[in-house]
Amino acid sequence: MEYLEIRGGSPLKGEVCIQGSKNAALPILSAVILHRGTTVLRNCPKIIDVLYMLEILKDFGCRISWEREALIIDATCLCASQVAECYGRQMRSSIMLLGSLLGRMKEASVSYPGGCVIGARPIDIHLAALKKLGAIFLEEPAGLKAVCCHPTGTTLKLPFPSVGATENVILLAALAEGTTCLENAAREPEIEELCRFLNSMGARICGAGTSNLVITGVKKLHDTDFTIMPDRIVAGTYMLMTAATGGDVLLRNVPIEQLSSVQKILRQMGAKQETGEHTLRIQSQGRPDCVPNLSTAPYPGFPTDLQSPLLAALSLAQGTSVIEETIFEARFKIVEDLRHMGAKIQIENQKAIIEGTEELTPTDLIARELRGGAALVIAAAAAKGTSRVHQYHYIARGYENIIRDLQSLGIVIQST
Ligand code: EPZ
Repeated sequence: MEYLEIRGGSPLKGEVCIQGSKNAALPILSAVILHRGTTVLRNCPKIIDVLYMLEILKDFGCRISWEREALIIDATCLCASQVAECYGRQMRSSIMLLGSLLGRMKEASVSYPGGCVIGARPIDIHLAALKKLGAIFLEEPAGLKAVCCHPTGTTLKLPFPSVGATENVILLAALAEGTTCLENAAREPEIEELCRFLNSMGARICGAGTSNLVITGVKKLHDTDFTIMPDRIVAGTYMLMTAATGGDVLLRNVPIEQLSSVQKILRQMGAKQETGEHTLRIQSQGRPDCVPNLSTAPYPGFPTDLQSPLLAALSLAQGTSVIEETIFEARFKIVEDLRHMGAKIQIENQKAIIEGTEELTPTDLIARELRGGAALVIAAAAAKGTSRVHQYHYIARGYENIIRDLQSLGIVIQST
């Protein structure tokens, strides 16, 4: 079984360029099939989930090629609307194809994305919202069949600002008859990016980044050449890694305006930060300071996807920190691994109480999901000695090349 071998204990030193955003690229790749023509995407991260999505698009009949760093997708002729089980079950984001398949093909067949180690991850909000736009669902043991003969705009309010459900509504409403007013929409930057992408193809979406979206359906879209924004979670991961190990790191191609809540926490942890034109320099010495009270929250709050990396960094803090996870019900899975390294963490309901320790002991660690795996890499980089992070394919689902990135920051890391 593949693993990463990391020799930790030294401060980070160097610079790294942040990759394109996974959680922007995936809904954008779903949106590509709404257009009977060609789309050029730049800065699309070469991560496992994107490669899965490209296989799904090929199954639909898309013609896909890479020209140096540009991804060219021709969705003129589509011949299928079924997401193969092998991909649907592997990747939760396959549910995001519902909206675009119904918008383009008026039918869709996807397997249940199922839960994952961070929670049950139901899709009730997606289904209820798409039904309001005219979709009809047949729930079968093998998965979900849907038809939507005449997508029609309406006014609807989400019970919770679900990122995926917001994206599915946008995807179906973009070509629907009439106007859709979506209330309590998610405000994540990835939603704004999806709207920016669709508007660059001639869609008419207003209110991106706010809780109220107005989508006026159009008859058709046109070609576009679009550059995907950098990944705020990857940037935040390396910022927290620097706080955990100490050091002096320059991040390039950083979406600074999307990282206010993360920068605030890093300041609380005692890290010095200097921002430039899409750059962020972060310096930290010794053990980080503790964070007495933090809750994850929908954007612009502290992102749930950085909760595990923060947990790992605070394991070494001076003092006791408390982190509350409010988005997913089972996102403290890495605590066992961190305890094996000597971390002192108690879990009470949805709160982690972390009594910072002087150091962590290197050991064998097992990644079980994407962001937890990245958090274990942070712990390994901070522990003096050699640790191994097994099952690191989970990390490759979201980090384009964590080995390349960490080597550029001076860490001795290799995969086997
Ligand atoms: C997106 O997941 C991201 N994934 C997640 O990133 C991220 O953690 C999450 O948004 C929150 O920001 C992608 O963009 C591909 P939600 P999504 O719908 O859309 C509940 C990563 O590591 N819910 O906002 O699935 C759900 O169970 C991943 O990159 C329902 O109850 O998130 C969860 O508790 C992990 N019913 C909460 O809402 C529904 O129908 C937030 O889910 C939908 C969601």
